[in-house]
Amino acid sequence: MYIIFLGAPGAGKGTQAASVARKLGLVHIASGDLFRQALEQGKELGLKAKSYMEKGVLVPDQITIDMVLERISAPDSGGGAILDGFPRNLKQAEALDEALAQQGKAIDKVVYIKVSEEELLKRLSGRRVCRQCQTPCHVSDSPPRVEGRCDKCGGELYQRPDDTEESIKRRLEVYSSETAPLVDYYGRVGKLVEIDGEGGVDKVERRIVAALGGERL
Ligand code: AP5
Ligand code: MG
Repeated sequence: MYIIFLGAPGAGKGTQAASVARKLGLVHIASGDLFRQALEQGKELGLKAKSYMEKGVLVPDQITIDMVLERISAPDSGGGAILDGFPRNLKQAEALDEALAQQGKAIDKVVYIKVSEEELLKRLSGRRVCRQCQTPCHVSDSPPRVEGRCDKCGGELYQRPDDTEESIKRRLEVYSSETAPLVDYYGRVGKLVEIDGEGGVDKVERRIVAALGGERL
């Protein structure tokens, strides 16, 4: 099963993809996390992506497509994956369709998580992320048990450099112009399920699981 989680910055793609992937026994592949991990490890891929990410614009397609397709071909992804933050424009969506088709596979569902702009801004400005495992939390809505430390792995929490007011504004613009058209792209082929992303994390997760067909869990 291959599922895409689509939504604006701060919609909760990473939060939901991690837990739904665990429940469904799928691998969670997040393009932003792959870039950030590469940067933490001082790899060339991370250094190439850094300036684009800080500005809040998309990393060039070929770099991103190669990185994600390589990750999808890894042996642990053979049973299916949840893709979080990829594809981000039509070119990436077409490249993904083509690569999966070559292996006799296809995207099964696209979960479109919808959240108001006011809520997105609140979520992004209070977000902290684990340097080690990338798990996000929120300073007021879901504060860590130990200040500055990730509940899941104990890693150091930090504020993403692209969670500044200027970069958030740019990311939302890029989302509207480049990524939002994917809602139609997947809607036309009947793969889109729209989820109300407001309300607590557990409530949103229940909606997603139900929309994906809870009986498969
Ligand atoms: P990426 O890392 O993908 O960031 P994004 O799309 O901007 O999305 P976010 O990670 O900010 O939000 P999210 O939806 O995952 O929300 P989260 O779960 O963390 O991309 C970053 C950059 O990398 C891009 O700008 C680009 O430069 C590059 N990049 C990545 N992919 C690319 C691609 N395919 N092509 C080209 N470039 C690419 O939640 C947010 C906050 O809300 C957290 O604090 C969380 O605790 C809280 N929260 C979550 N759910 C709820 C809820 N239900 N109620 C209350 N709070 C909640
Ligand atoms: Mg994310």
